[in-house]
Amino acid sequence: MAFIETERLILRTWMPSDASALLESSLDREVTRFLPVTRPPTLESSLAWIDRQMDEQEREGFSVWPVIRKEDGRLIGRCGLHRLPEGYVEVVWVFERDAWGHGFATEAARAAAAYAREPLRLPALYALINPANSASIAVAYRLGMRFDRVVRAYKRDLLRYVL
Ligand SMILES: CC(C)(COP(=O)(O)OP(=O)(O)OC[C@H]1O[C@@H](n2cnc3c(N)ncnc32)[C@H](O)[C@@H]1OP(=O)(O)O)[C@@H](O)C(=O)NCCC(=O)NCCS
Repeated sequence: MAFIETERLILRTWMPSDASALLESSLDREVTRFLPVTRPPTLESSLAWIDRQMDEQEREGFSVWPVIRKEDGRLIGRCGLHRLPEGYVEVVWVFERDAWGHGFATEAARAAAAYAREPLRLPALYALINPANSASIAVAYRLGMRFDRVVRAYKRDLLRYVL
């Protein structure tokens, strides 16, 4: 089911058959460089991650969604919303390397942030970013986020941006 449609992208619910595309991007060290990956990903861990997204969707009415490029129907990344154990919700963006530099992350994240406002009516939205991840910080600023503070999350010190 498509949740969100933008000019060039569709953010939809996960299907188990997405696991191989997810695994492929999770094996790219350039993509995972700033992500809290602890163990080498496998097809099994990719399926388990998809299961967790489906659970969060059931529970919260949102999750991190697969991003499909309309032009060719390919899964080029993931973007969406996730509630942290601390209680607040973050917006997440991760794209395959060959999909960088086209504005897809900003386009998808802008749509996810709009969904957080309406229909979800979340009081605030955050992004947690490794200080060295300048491409991701640029996305936060393009969304109109501002730096909030440094927080401890995912066992790291991360910059927190707020919208
Ligand atoms: C973070 C990440 C999503 C940013 O991707 P990105 O493609 O640089 O970000 P955007 O979608 O905003 O694209 C912006 C770029 O597209 C260019 N662009 C090209 N066509 C465009 C268009 N039609 N519209 C908008 N921008 C366009 C912009 O000029 C900009 O290029 P620049 O960075 O050279 O100035 C990507 O680097 C990534 O997936 N990294 C690995 C995962 C990760 O670290 N995620 C964040 C965890 S906090």
